[in-house]
Amino acid sequence: MIINIAVIKGDGIGPEIIDGAIDVLKKVEEYYGHRFLFKEVLAGGSAIDVTGEPLPKETIQVCKECDAVLLGAVGGPKWDHLSGELRPEKALLSLREELGLYANLRPAVLYESLKGASPLRDELLSNGIDICVVRELTGGIYFGEKGRNQKGKLGEAAYDVEIYSVGEVERIAKVAFEIAAKRKGKVTSIDKANVLESSRLWRSVVTNVAKQYVDIELEHMYVDNAAMQLIRDPNQFDVIVTSNMFGDILSDEASMITGSIGMLPSASLGYGSKGMYEPIHGSAPDISGKNIANPIATILSAAMMLRHSFKLEEEANSIEKAVEAVLREGYRTADITSAGMKLVGTKEMTKLIINKLGVMS
Ligand code: NAD
Ligand code: IPM
Ligand code: MN
Repeated sequence: MIINIAVIKGDGIGPEIIDGAIDVLKKVEEYYGHRFLFKEVLAGGSAIDVTGEPLPKETIQVCKECDAVLLGAVGGPKWDHLSGELRPEKALLSLREELGLYANLRPAVLYESLKGASPLRDELLSNGIDICVVRELTGGIYFGEKGRNQKGKLGEAAYDVEIYSVGEVERIAKVAFEIAAKRKGKVTSIDKANVLESSRLWRSVVTNVAKQYVDIELEHMYVDNAAMQLIRDPNQFDVIVTSNMFGDILSDEASMITGSIGMLPSASLGYGSKGMYEPIHGSAPDISGKNIANPIATILSAAMMLRHSFKLEEEANSIEKAVEAVLREGYRTADITSAGMKLVGTKEMTKLIINKLGVMS
């Protein structure tokens, strides 16, 4: 079977980390006898530089034709002066919308050997951390009406509308309950229902959807409390379901308590098997081109791609086990290192993981 994968390397550290993930996939291909065809296309700042637009039509076309999309990260200071529609980040938002990828799964897992990299005290980590953030990805304040040059209370004003419809909340809530059914059976829905009308709708829809999942425990939590609870006692969470904006912020927070943002992968899914897979972090312009970026979030995103889009469970597991084994041996990129560990660069970390593939399966 030939599997077509659209590849968007993007900007900053994007090319370095995607090269690592592709090398890992090539080893999987060889070891398990699959055939992956990588089709590289441009999006983000690098697309602006070449074509003048962040998301060329050809890129959308190729992503639609391929079985999955693997993406590094887009954006950087070079393009920060551009207006909203022309920014690199717009490419990502449009791709999510064009491909109908409304569910963004961001698993925050603390590897046993990475406890030393978490800023939390040991006693808070004794039961590990295993949270799945289910972030709504094609609605909310990101996609509501926007405006500029308005007359505001104290001069010129701008606005972004947070809007959710019943169907949008229902479908993301179902994703969260289905995932919880295969995990510890608890969903925490995070909102700001004490202030926002859209959150009150969100809360009532999630409560209704829960009636179809009697075995799942549902709790509601305000986002400000949730930000604090994630640090106070992360182990209380199993599945978190939340809006586009809150999910963006809380998943960065969740990543840090598991050691680093360089560790967290993601899968963006819709109705079919097509998905887009990317680390949750950005293009990290401050460390790009230095061979110090952590490639693990991207490599684990490739594993999520094998699992969710292609049902290659064994192959996905073997990548995750390889990552775990390398960490257990004490190898660390700069973002997760601590005293006594073996510091390695992006390429070395990738190579170590590749060498463990197969051996660990
Ligand atoms: P960022 O995630 O790029 O970086 C935040 C911090 O984390 C930086 O100090 C960076 O060095 C570090 N970091 C991130 N990934 C790392 C990795 N793999 N290994 C080691 N350290 C890592 O966030 P930012 O600085 O706020 O944004 C930079 C640019 O990236 C912006 O243009 C932003 O819009 C864009 N961005 C893109 C995506 C995406 O494409 N999915 C996601 C977030 C931000
Ligand atoms: C992410 C990023 C994006 C988001 C930006 C770059 C559009 O922060 O994927 O987490 O906010 O969704
Ligand atoms: Mn983000």
